[in-house]
Amino acid sequence: MNWTRRRLLAAGAGAAFLRARAADASVHGLRKIAEQRGLVYGCSVHSRNLEHQDFAEALVREAGCLVAETESKRHIIEAVRGSFNFGPTERLLTFAEKHRMHFRGHTLVWHERNPNWLQDALEAGPSDRILTDYIQAVVQHFRGRIGSWDVVNEAVLPEDQRSDGLRNSLWTKAFGPGYIDLAFHAARAADPGTQLVYNETHLEAASDRGNFKRQHTLRLLEGMKARGVPIDAIGIQSHLRPYEWGLDEKALAHFLREIVDLGLRVLVTELDVRDWGGPLDLAKRYQEAADITQRYLSVVMTTSRVDAIVTWGLSDRYTWLTRWKPTSSPDPAPLPLDRNMNRKPMWYAIANALSSDVSPAMWQRD
Ligand code: XIL
Repeated sequence: MNWTRRRLLAAGAGAAFLRARAADASVHGLRKIAEQRGLVYGCSVHSRNLEHQDFAEALVREAGCLVAETESKRHIIEAVRGSFNFGPTERLLTFAEKHRMHFRGHTLVWHERNPNWLQDALEAGPSDRILTDYIQAVVQHFRGRIGSWDVVNEAVLPEDQRSDGLRNSLWTKAFGPGYIDLAFHAARAADPGTQLVYNETHLEAASDRGNFKRQHTLRLLEGMKARGVPIDAIGIQSHLRPYEWGLDEKALAHFLREIVDLGLRVLVTELDVRDWGGPLDLAKRYQEAADITQRYLSVVMTTSRVDAIVTWGLSDRYTWLTRWKPTSSPDPAPLPLDRNMNRKPMWYAIANALSSDVSPAMWQRD
């Protein structure tokens, strides 16, 4: 990518951003803006929050896709071994289908949010059916209704110092690194029509951790493609942290170009801006969150083939970060809508990215 071009784009984006804001693009929500470019915008949600009318109305206005923040994870679906509770996911999926929204499944294989019985079962006798039967049961149950699945989540971890860069999770311990291939093959067999995604975090970080994540995630995906593993896309979680490790635009662009060369699509799967450590002035913090969002999406949209932009929540009223923020910090403001469902500068930054005329066909190699 010609970086002068990027600066022009950013300047142009800035002007477009001000125009959109001036015009107050209240005519369309992010859903419509995305659809006009063949993209999808969506957000994660918890079914308990659908009861709040103002939030439900904002979801219908803004989201073209939903994903369960936590209710499609194994600790909810298979809390009791062999007994599947699809109810919570069904509640969300029914809402999405009523409003003709897409739905993403998150996530089939993770090292967190597993039922209490799982660890013992794996240690007692690691039959890979503990992994594949679950995937088959869940993906088949929702076959034709969930268009994209995060099959494996966050498998790369620097701290575990494995030569392959993988997390030494209960899955790796039970089955070795091959659990990842197993999972994707099982998911493809269960629903050949759903998009299969590997989901990872920290891929944008300007840090040694970011470098490690990009390097080993790429090696993982290259190996999967070389072995003919059925994988369609990478999910880049995109939990931006402007006041901790920032954004390495050049490294991210290079990584994404390698992803494109592998023939993989890209989804922004969990976008939010962790803003503690930022200015106490709320307007300034809002603007800086919008600025990093604009910079981030500009890189993603111009260097890769993006299918969807999904934020991890829609309104600051319901963000997972509330539980994580330092007690001394103000309430986090990581999302496009404020606590009263008003559009923030971050909303305009996403709207601008979705409506910019940059498309993957326009980027040139260095
Ligand atoms: C988080 C949810 O937001 C929390 O409510 C839950 O307690 C833990 O999981 N990366 C992921 C998501 O892939 O599944 C995590 O979601 C956030 C980090």
